[in-house]
Amino acid sequence: MTQPKKLFIKTYGCQMNVYDSERMAEALGPSGYVEVGSPEEADMILLNTCHIREKAAEKVYSELGRFKGLKAEKPDLKIGVAGCVAQAEGAEIMRRQPMVDLVVGPQSYHRLPEMEARAGAEKVIDTDFPEEDKFEKLKTRPKAKRGPTAFLTVQEGCDKFCAFCVVPYTRGAEVSRPVDRVLTEAQDLVERGVREITLLGQNVNAYHGAGPDGRDWTLARLIRELAEIDDLARIRFTTSHPNDMDDDLIAAHGDCAKLMPYLHLPVQSGSDKILKRMNRSHDRDSYLRLIDRIRAARPDILLSGDFIVGFPEETDEDFRDTLRLIEEVNYGQAFSFKYSTRPGTPAAERPQVPEDVKSDRLQELQALITRQQRAVQDAMVGHEVGVLIERPGRMAGQMVGKSDHLHAVHVQCDLAPGSLARVRIVESGPNSLAGELI
Ligand code: 5AD
Ligand code: SF4
Repeated sequence: MTQPKKLFIKTYGCQMNVYDSERMAEALGPSGYVEVGSPEEADMILLNTCHIREKAAEKVYSELGRFKGLKAEKPDLKIGVAGCVAQAEGAEIMRRQPMVDLVVGPQSYHRLPEMEARAGAEKVIDTDFPEEDKFEKLKTRPKAKRGPTAFLTVQEGCDKFCAFCVVPYTRGAEVSRPVDRVLTEAQDLVERGVREITLLGQNVNAYHGAGPDGRDWTLARLIRELAEIDDLARIRFTTSHPNDMDDDLIAAHGDCAKLMPYLHLPVQSGSDKILKRMNRSHDRDSYLRLIDRIRAARPDILLSGDFIVGFPEETDEDFRDTLRLIEEVNYGQAFSFKYSTRPGTPAAERPQVPEDVKSDRLQELQALITRQQRAVQDAMVGHEVGVLIERPGRMAGQMVGKSDHLHAVHVQCDLAPGSLARVRIVESGPNSLAGELI
C-alpha cells in the first residue's frame, strides 16, 4: 500500500476560509492526502490567506519565510498559497517567495487536484473566476462523522463596493448557490452528526439562489426550508448587510424556532458623513430603525457588529458618533479594526488619519465594547438557555457548548457532544458562562 501523503493547511481570516479549507482537504483526499497538524511532517503546505487588512496580508510572507528551512531539508515539499492574497497578488507571490509552487484563488479550488499533480515540476497559478460552480465540483465529501456544528457557504462575493473593502475584487461579484445543492449538503452534514449549521456568505442575506420551482429564493425562504430537516436543531447565518435585511428575514427571527437569536449586522461607523464616504448606502438612523424592527420580532436577540476606526477624514466628532451608536444599540459582541489602506480601493486615495489617532480610538472603542459585552453576558445569569454540547471542558466531568446566543457555556454533565441541554446560567466569567442542567 502506498503511504498517504500529508497535508498541512493553515487558515487565516474569516469563516468562509475555514469552510474552504475543509473542502480543499477533502478535494485532495483522492490524490492521496490526509490532513496533519504540523508543517514539519507535511508533504504539502497550503496557506489559506486573508487580504482584508494589510496586517493579515503581510502575515503570509512572514509565514512563508518560516517554511524556508523546511523546504531546504525536504525539496519535494510542495508549498501552496490559496485564498484572497493568492487572488489579489497572484504571480507576485512567487516573485517575492520563489519557493512557492502553487497559487490558487478562491474560485478555483475544484482544480486543486490537477494543480497539485503539476506542482513541483512547474510553477502553477490559477486565479480565474470560472463559470463552473466550484462547490459542485468539490462535492466528493467523504461520509466521515462530523462534530455538532458546521459551516455551509451558500453565497460568495459582494456587489456593495464599500470604499474600504477588497472583497468585491478578491471574491468577485455576488453568486448564490442553488437551493437544492444547499439542501443536499445540509442533509448530508446532518446525517454525519451535525446539529447546527451556520450559513455563510460575504453578504449572506443577499442570498438569491435558484429554487427548485424556477424562482430565486431569499435567505429567509432557504432557512425555513432547512428548518424542516428534523435532526437539524439550530440555524445561524453570517455576515449580513443592513440593506439586505428584508421583512421575511426579520419575521423569521420571530417565528422560526430553529433560527438562533443572534445577528451579526455590521454598521462600520455611527457618523452619517463617514457612512456616506464609505459608500455604505445606509445611514445611522436607518440602521437604528432596522435594529428596532429586529428587536420587535425577537426581543432577546443578541446583536453583533463590525467597526472601523480612523477611516479617511474621520474627525473626533465622527468617532464620538460611533461611540454613541454603540451605546444606543448595546451590542453583545463586536469586532473592531483600525482602518487599513487597501491598494485599489477608493478610500486609499483619501486623506488618511494618523496611526496614533487610530490606535487611541480603537482602544477607546474596544473598552466600551468590552464593558457592553460583559454586561450583556452577565445579564444571562439566572436565565434558562439552550446549550448545544460540543466537547469536554478542562475540568473533570465538565462539558462546553454554545448557548442560543452564542456564549460559551461550561456545564457539569455527562452529555455527549451533539446533545441539546436546557441549562440555568449560574455564573459569568471573563470569556464564558457557567450553567447547571435543568
Ligand atoms: N480596514 C479595516 N477593516 C476592514 N474591514 C474590511 N475592510 C477593512 C479595511 N480596509 C472590516 C470591516 C468588515 C470586516 C470583515 O473587516 O469591518 O465588516
Ligand atoms: Fe466588503 Fe462592504 Fe461587501 Fe462587506 S458589504 S464584503 S464590507 S464591500
